[in-house]
Amino acid sequence: MLKVVQLDTYHGRIRVLKNISLHVEKGEIVTIVGANGAGKSTLLGTIAGVYKPKSGRIFLGTKQTSCLPAEKVVKDGIILVPERREVFDSLSVLDNLRLGAFHRYYTDKKTIEGDIEKILALFPPLAGREKQLAGTLSGGEQQMLAIGRGLMANPKVLLLDEPSLGLAPLVVKEIFEILLSLRKQGTTILMVEQNAKAALKVADRAYILERGVISHAGMARELLQDSRVQSAYLGARLHA
Ligand SMILES: Nc1ncnc2c1ncn2[C@@H]1O[C@H](COP(=O)(O)OP(=O)(O)O)[C@@H](O)[C@H]1O
Ligand SMILES: [Mg+2]
Repeated sequence: MLKVVQLDTYHGRIRVLKNISLHVEKGEIVTIVGANGAGKSTLLGTIAGVYKPKSGRIFLGTKQTSCLPAEKVVKDGIILVPERREVFDSLSVLDNLRLGAFHRYYTDKKTIEGDIEKILALFPPLAGREKQLAGTLSGGEQQMLAIGRGLMANPKVLLLDEPSLGLAPLVVKEIFEILLSLRKQGTTILMVEQNAKAALKVADRAYILERGVISHAGMARELLQDSRVQSAYLGARLHA
C-alpha cells in the first residue's frame, strides 16, 4: 500500500535520511523506533510531502506521491498526526474534528457529522465533551483528539509521530489499545516512536532507525525478543 524506496532527505547540507526503504501493507500497524534525533519526524514529514527528498521515491499503491506538494498528498490519503499533538486549543473538540475533514468538506458534507459520531465512539474519554475547548483537555485526551482529527480525513495511511510522548504509562496503554481497535477496523498505521517497548507490543512489523539508517527490520514480536534491540532500546542492560 505505502512503499518507500531508497529515500534520502537533507536538512540543509546534512543528510538526515540515508537510503531508507520500507513498506506498509493494508491493515498493518508498522512502527519505526529510534532515539531522539534519529530522523523519525523527518521520515514522516518526507512521506507526508512536507520535506522534499533529495532522491528516492514514495508510492501509495501505484501512484508516486514523492513529487507532490503536501496538500495533494493529504488528498491522496496520507495523513500525518504530528509530534506534540497539534490541536487547536481555542476551538472545541467538535470543531477540531470537523477541521480534520476540511479537504473533503464539500464532497462529503452529508457524512461528516456521522463520521464524528463514529470517531467519538472510539475515544470514550472524548464523548460528551464535544463543546469543551481542546486546550482544556489533558495531554492524553489531546492526543486522542489529534488522532481523531487525523481519522476524520479518511486516511488510507495514518502517520503517527510519537503518540506516547510525554504521557503517563497508563495513558499510553489506553491510546495504544485504541490503535489496536483501529487496526481491527482496517486502518493502516505507520507510527514512529521512541518508546520502543510500547510500540513493539502493538505493531505487526517494525524498523529500527539509527542516525538516519534502518539497522534492523522484522516482525515486532521478534524484535522485542532480540538481544541487540533489547540492549539498545529496551533498557535490558539496566535490569541485567
Ligand atoms: N527543519 C529542520 N531543519 C534543520 N534540521 C532539522 C530539521 N528537522 C530536524 N532536523 C535535524 O535532523 C535530525 C533528525 O531530526 P528528527 O527527524 O526531528 O529526529 P527524531 O524525530 O527522530 O527525533 C536532527 O539532527 C535534527 O536536528
Ligand atoms: Mg521527532
